[in-house]
Amino acid sequence: MNSMLILMVILLMNLLKIYFQHCAHKLTNYTSLRAKKVPWFPRFKRDLDIVANEVLDSGELEADHPGFHDKEYRLRRDKLAQVAKDYRFGDKIPAIHYEQNEIDTWNTVLDKILPLHHKYAAAEHVRLLPLFEQNCGLRKDNIPQLQDISDYLQESTGFSLRPVAGLLSTRNFLYGLAFRTFFSTQYLRHHSRPLYTPEPDLIHEICHSVLFADQAFADFSHQIGLAAIGATDEQIEQLGRCYWFTVEFGLCKQGNDVKAFGAGILSSFGELEYSMGLNPNEKPKLLRFDPFVASKQTYPITTYQPLYFVSDSFETAKEQMIEFAGTLKKPFNVRYLPYTNSIDVDSNIELEKHVFIKPQESPYAKESNKM
Ligand SMILES: [Fe+2]
Repeated sequence: MNSMLILMVILLMNLLKIYFQHCAHKLTNYTSLRAKKVPWFPRFKRDLDIVANEVLDSGELEADHPGFHDKEYRLRRDKLAQVAKDYRFGDKIPAIHYEQNEIDTWNTVLDKILPLHHKYAAAEHVRLLPLFEQNCGLRKDNIPQLQDISDYLQESTGFSLRPVAGLLSTRNFLYGLAFRTFFSTQYLRHHSRPLYTPEPDLIHEICHSVLFADQAFADFSHQIGLAAIGATDEQIEQLGRCYWFTVEFGLCKQGNDVKAFGAGILSSFGELEYSMGLNPNEKPKLLRFDPFVASKQTYPITTYQPLYFVSDSFETAKEQMIEFAGTLKKPFNVRYLPYTNSIDVDSNIELEKHVFIKPQESPYAKESNKM
């Protein structure tokens, strides 16, 4: 009887021990694994469907836009915007049948800027131009289709294009780069002023697209996008400036020369010559690219840039971005999984609710006009 009692006491004690261990384990887990809230971000490439239509300008033209009073042009813009709005992840980008006045505009611009690209653009860009001709139909008499460019980029560097109806916030735009995706418009500037556009049009986007076929440039751009994942608003602003001073308005050192690679320069013949110091009355200031400096540098959006950053090489710029991203305080590390086109994080985080900030309320609306 006594031994029975002793056995029951031992059993009871063991049960209590297991219970207390379980409670302690739960408490420890709760403390160490409590999720930290971070700004919403897409986890999968298909999640870009959520942000791609969060357009800031709703396709509305400003009163001083060359096409403002042209009803036909505005209908054309609406039609092309709808193509982008209807696009979903996995679709083929619909081919656009460009009209003669659009081809004429394209022709006029290319006639002017292509010779300048051969003189002043980065060697990587110049090397890729004939490949775009062969693989994407880049010719003066033909406007390339986004799907053809996207297919070529996909097989070159794993980048792809996605149609977009207008301007996105800096955050959403950079989220695309994290998935090696570049948001691209499909419309052309108004034919009455072929050498001027107040907003990024297809010609500007194609100037961007060429370098996404260069591995080092594509990887550099990808690093800016990855750094934006779950970043605070302040960090997004810093990364937006790094993007601005490279992908949009970057120069690079090549031998003893300085060449242009930013699409904002390459799509503007006036700024291309000015950035090369060819304007005798006004020369820009040049600084060696350093993301720690560029991320703090403000810039104008309606004039030529008074200051350009000169990258040593795309490879070096990539390493610099990785170093800079490592200093951004975040409660997790991030990596891109190419086989699943997804973002992987190494900590327990909780995403804040995704909310589309209306244009007039968006802190990025003004900045995004520069993209
Ligand atoms: Fe741009």
